[in-house]
Amino acid sequence: MKNNISELIKIRRATPPKFLAKTEVSKELIEELLENANWAPTHKNTEPWRFKIFRGQAKLKLAADIYELLITSSEIAPVNFQKAEKFTSGLKNVPVAIAIILERDAAVRIPEWEEVAAVSMAVQNMWLTATDKGFGAFWSTPEFLPSLNGLLQLKTGQKLLGFFYVGEIAIDYPSPGRGNVQEKTEWIE
Ligand SMILES: Cc1cc2nc3c(=O)[nH]c(=O)nc-3n(C[C@H](O)[C@H](O)[C@H](O)COP(=O)(O)O)c2cc1C
Repeated sequence: MKNNISELIKIRRATPPKFLAKTEVSKELIEELLENANWAPTHKNTEPWRFKIFRGQAKLKLAADIYELLITSSEIAPVNFQKAEKFTSGLKNVPVAIAIILERDAAVRIPEWEEVAAVSMAVQNMWLTATDKGFGAFWSTPEFLPSLNGLLQLKTGQKLLGFFYVGEIAIDYPSPGRGNVQEKTEWIE
């Protein structure tokens, strides 16, 4: 598919896990998403994005481990049972889950918000690439992400920013639309 850039930006949707098909996504597509993520802008060229790709049995095990942790661990803040259930059933349903990880550079040369911005732009690159190929995607950011560091074996200086799901679109999810950009803009000239 070849989309005009303005069109592509507007047809990109957050397609919730239940609206994605379970059908496997090819490794080639995932590699293309990651390659494009890697070309996001990055202040001081820190390239702060890191990814862990979960598929197949490993993804099912991750979902089971997260559920177990959220429901049973006394070392983390209590989690609403329904939220844990909703998150893990989404994770089980989607064909691929890409853990989005921020890694500060060792010298901590720039503020964290700039690194979050760079990682977010990497995610948008993946999202637009998936859209261009006709795939749906979703960025899931449950409040209990900080409790998952151990399960995801994050290193010091790494922070989990969520899970990016990609799959064939089973059911189109409606766009919430956007308010008028003129109302968010001030021209000073
Ligand atoms: C950083 C980020 C995190 C998000 N996390 C969630 C989430 O945890 N759950 C959710 O339902 N949607 C999440 N979304 C998707 C938004 O709900 C969605 O982008 C918004 O409704 C606009 O819809 P659209 O992306 O289809 O235009 C997230 C979006 C962003 C940018």
